[in-house]
Amino acid sequence: MSDRGTIIGVLTSKGGSGKSTITENIAVGIAHKGVSVAIIDCDFKQRTASKWISRRNELHPDLPKIHCFLESDNLISSIKEHAKHYDVNIIDVQGRDNKSLRAGFLVCDIIYVPFIPSQNDLEVIEEISSIIEETQEQNPNRKIYAILNDCPPQVLSSQSNEAYDFLEDYKNIFDISNVKIVHRAVYQTCPSEGIGVVESKDKKAAFEIEKLVKEIESNV
Ligand SMILES: Nc1ncnc2c1ncn2[C@@H]1O[C@H](COP(=O)(O)OP(=O)(O)OP(=O)(O)O)[C@@H](O)[C@H]1O
Ligand SMILES: [Mg+2]
Repeated sequence: MSDRGTIIGVLTSKGGSGKSTITENIAVGIAHKGVSVAIIDCDFKQRTASKWISRRNELHPDLPKIHCFLESDNLISSIKEHAKHYDVNIIDVQGRDNKSLRAGFLVCDIIYVPFIPSQNDLEVIEEISSIIEETQEQNPNRKIYAILNDCPPQVLSSQSNEAYDFLEDYKNIFDISNVKIVHRAVYQTCPSEGIGVVESKDKKAAFEIEKLVKEIESNV
């Protein structure tokens, strides 16, 4: 048995690809399973997750508690220390190749690399591939998934399918998640309410996050 909880990261050097949105939503999805959850917010500048947690604590004290810690220094040891106290620890990082992103790739057990299915967003893959290769030896047992976020709603969207074709060529560095996260207004409204989509009325959004939580559970 491990002496610490699982560490999960939604990690990419591309800004605005949904790291904080996915982090917050999986934290809520997992918290509803009755395990202890902490977010370690390593985005010291934006503090997106920390602000969201403050709203959650203020507006919804009765919802499952998610702990949150803002960290800027000694990230690897700080993250590992928090992980001694919580079953699941999810880290949120800045959207660029810096020490918080590198720490994430070095310390996480399960990593999701989010991609928006557009040419400009997919092009970050070269940079991500290098980071994965450079950190592989130090963290060889991590599980890495690529996940599409902010996808067109059509099931057979050519934009999403082309992105999946593109990602297929990188299956030596990551698996592709079974979950496709669609562009939905509820992902934009939940943050101001301090909730996750599984706590909203949008059943389709809740379903995709629950499916993502199941995929995570299959690796724990
Ligand atoms: N599936 C989605 N549907 C609709 N809007 C989305 C979705 N995912 C993310 N967004 C929106 O896209 C914007 C960027 O998302 P988010 O802040 O999660 O990205 P980020 O990767 O954390 O950005 P940063 O690099 O600045 O930290 C936000 O306005 C968010 O509400
Ligand atoms: Mg963010």
